[in-house]
Amino acid sequence: MDNILVIGCSGQIGSELVMALRKVYGNEHVFATDIKEPTNEIHESGPFQILDVLDFKNLLHFLVRYNITQVYNLAAVLSGNAEKIPLQAWDINMKSLMNTLEAARQSDAKKVFWPSSIAVFGPTTPRHDTPQMTVMEPNTVYGISKLAGERWGEYYNKKYDIDFRSVRYPGLISYKTEPGGGTTDYAVEIFYDAIRKGSYECFLSSKTALPMMFMEDAITNTIRLMQADGDKLSLRSSYNMAGISFDPEQLTNAIRKYMPDFEITYKPDFRQAIADSWPACIDDSVAQKDWGLKTTYDLDKMTRIMLEKIGEKLAV
Ligand code: SER
Repeated sequence: MDNILVIGCSGQIGSELVMALRKVYGNEHVFATDIKEPTNEIHESGPFQILDVLDFKNLLHFLVRYNITQVYNLAAVLSGNAEKIPLQAWDINMKSLMNTLEAARQSDAKKVFWPSSIAVFGPTTPRHDTPQMTVMEPNTVYGISKLAGERWGEYYNKKYDIDFRSVRYPGLISYKTEPGGGTTDYAVEIFYDAIRKGSYECFLSSKTALPMMFMEDAITNTIRLMQADGDKLSLRSSYNMAGISFDPEQLTNAIRKYMPDFEITYKPDFRQAIADSWPACIDDSVAQKDWGLKTTYDLDKMTRIMLEKIGEKLAV
């Protein structure tokens, strides 16, 4: 039986991934950890502990003590925040990964999931249908740390046989836990402001298209990759994952189908330059072929559910 450690269970991905993993593997087999308190449902449904992934000794001790076989390490400083504290962000993003890989090598937790991002691409990368293998010259601290992390993951796979698996997440859209400090965050904030105020001031310009994905699709595919036959995985760095691509204007039009009076204004800030360096849409055919990546949410379905669920949440 697998015992699974989730590091960063209180963040945007972790809050939903823990609950999905508990359904598959059983509540008591999924150990949720973070340096922050998690949601009530995580607290109430299974084990939670405060754990700082930067503390190597404690991490290794945890893996051994609870016979952990799989680790999902979701701890990271996102793109916008990382630009404000470059050295600290580099330190946190890299050290959390290196501690995880090294603790995996020294324990039985040989299967490791770690998220990469569309931020690994840069201004010299082809912007449309970005291939799996292409020019990668990221110019953000977050992007540089993700690209370096992909290389380290592959290195630990080849050298020490760590079963490292990763996807390059697009912007993730969810109604349970808000993201923090990312460049794609506008696509979540917009729903809260639409419901609270009927209007939104967007920090990206109207035509800034980026790859995005509804959280349920992201979680399903993450677990699908982790359950895939390892022999079929041609990549041990990280897989492109495309989702749906849209710009703020297209998202506004999708919201207006349900809220015709919704107003948007544009006031691009420093995150515009980050978004401009990323692809508009990417090609994920390698992931489809290797492990059956598939998504089920389009822009309209996602918009409808976001408005409905955030509407219910704010009404309480
Ligand atoms: N959503 C992330 C960010 O905007 C990209 O991985 O930083």
